[in-house]
Amino acid sequence: MLDILYQRRSIRKYEKKPIEKEKVDQLIKAALLAPSARSAMSQRFIVVDDPVLLDKLAKVRAGASSFLKDATLGIVVIGDSSVSDVWVEDTSLAAIIIQLAAESLGLGSCWIQIRNRQHNEEVSAEEYIRNILGFPENLKVLCIISLGYPLERKPAKKDDELGFDRVSINGYNK
Ligand SMILES: Cc1cc2nc3c(=O)[nH]c(=O)nc-3n(C[C@H](O)[C@H](O)[C@H](O)COP(=O)(O)O)c2cc1C
Repeated sequence: MLDILYQRRSIRKYEKKPIEKEKVDQLIKAALLAPSARSAMSQRFIVVDDPVLLDKLAKVRAGASSFLKDATLGIVVIGDSSVSDVWVEDTSLAAIIIQLAAESLGLGSCWIQIRNRQHNEEVSAEEYIRNILGFPENLKVLCIISLGYPLERKPAKKDDELGFDRVSINGYNK
């Protein structure tokens, strides 16, 4: 597990190579295995492999999401706010679990933030996606996880980059 945590990096360039169905199924299982507060299972997932849709979704936040058009898969991570008041936490856990599962399967991934972000001055990133994928107002989008076989390599994290000064023992700043 620690090895996967050290190795995982945000990958934004992808090979033009399909992801095997067994791996897609494993990613979906990983997402569904995420815990949720009170086991309310507030998380919803829209798995997108249609290149036309990926191209449209890639335009959601121009500079921060354009690489999604070259991804093999995008998983839109959604929380049902009518099911849980902590859908942000529930969905965040599912999103990172998808990313860690992807790393374990030899896939690259990147988080594209949607919550609290705008498509343009008038339209929120969430509204833009809702118009494309068609889901009701109670469903809130946290992020999209882009996925594909990596076409870029990034170094694993090193202990001296982790910021150990952020950790205190038995009290703040001790
Ligand atoms: C909450 C959150 C939001 C992020 N939003 C974006 C985003 O919109 N677009 C993007 O390209 N990367 C996004 N990232 C990826 C970060 O930029 C990346 O994790 C960070 O630079 C550290 O790099 P690493 O993932 O390779 O360790 C996001 C990551 C997190 C955790």
